[in-house]
Amino acid sequence: MLTQNQLKLAVAQKAIEFVPDDAIVGVGTGSTVNLFIEELSRIKGRIRGAVSSSEASTERLKAHHIPVFDLNAVDDVPVYIDGADEINHYLHMIKGGGGALTREKIVAAVAREFICIADETKYVSVLGQFPLPVEVIPMARSHVARELVRLGGHPEMRHGFTTDNGNIILDVHGLSIAKPVEMEETINQIAGVVTCGLFARRRADVLVLGRQNGVDVIR
Ligand code: A5P
Repeated sequence: MLTQNQLKLAVAQKAIEFVPDDAIVGVGTGSTVNLFIEELSRIKGRIRGAVSSSEASTERLKAHHIPVFDLNAVDDVPVYIDGADEINHYLHMIKGGGGALTREKIVAAVAREFICIADETKYVSVLGQFPLPVEVIPMARSHVARELVRLGGHPEMRHGFTTDNGNIILDVHGLSIAKPVEMEETINQIAGVVTCGLFARRRADVLVLGRQNGVDVIR
């Protein structure tokens, strides 16, 4: 029986196959991506560098002497590699457990291909068991929380946490998200929301899924 960490390592290693030569690679955030950064450092001679979705990943990339580019200075990001908190069979995701959802969404929007790396515990039929992170401008906290309750959720402030953009996170419990695209649009339209952790409009193109009997590539 492989541990969750061994499954994460297996998908991190497999993801290297999706990295083209000379690429500037979009790099996500989280424990699975941390393993991917280790793998990337082994092939750093054949890439140009990375664009990063968080201060934490930037630090790690720099520690491995992988050049980190400003996204505004880059015109092509062939692949974005990131984890997920949940992913469904349409490759819609909940992300932001690490609080980096907004920058993740920006880099994902620029990238030509989104490769999600996840272990099988993340693969679900309906999103929402994992509380949905929503990044909120601090002065809008109460307003946004009330609107989220109207949508049937139970928002909880992530205490002692500030995003890389200086905002707060509300984690929304109790949502069973049957229509992720519609839910993403509805939440993103609430005044004061920077973005929510649903990645449905920009879903993954490929899921590299770590299972007990091997790594599956799902498109
Ligand atoms: C970071 O904000 C998240 O979107 C992560 O990508 C997600 O939480 C997956 O993280 P793990 O690889 O640590 O499970």
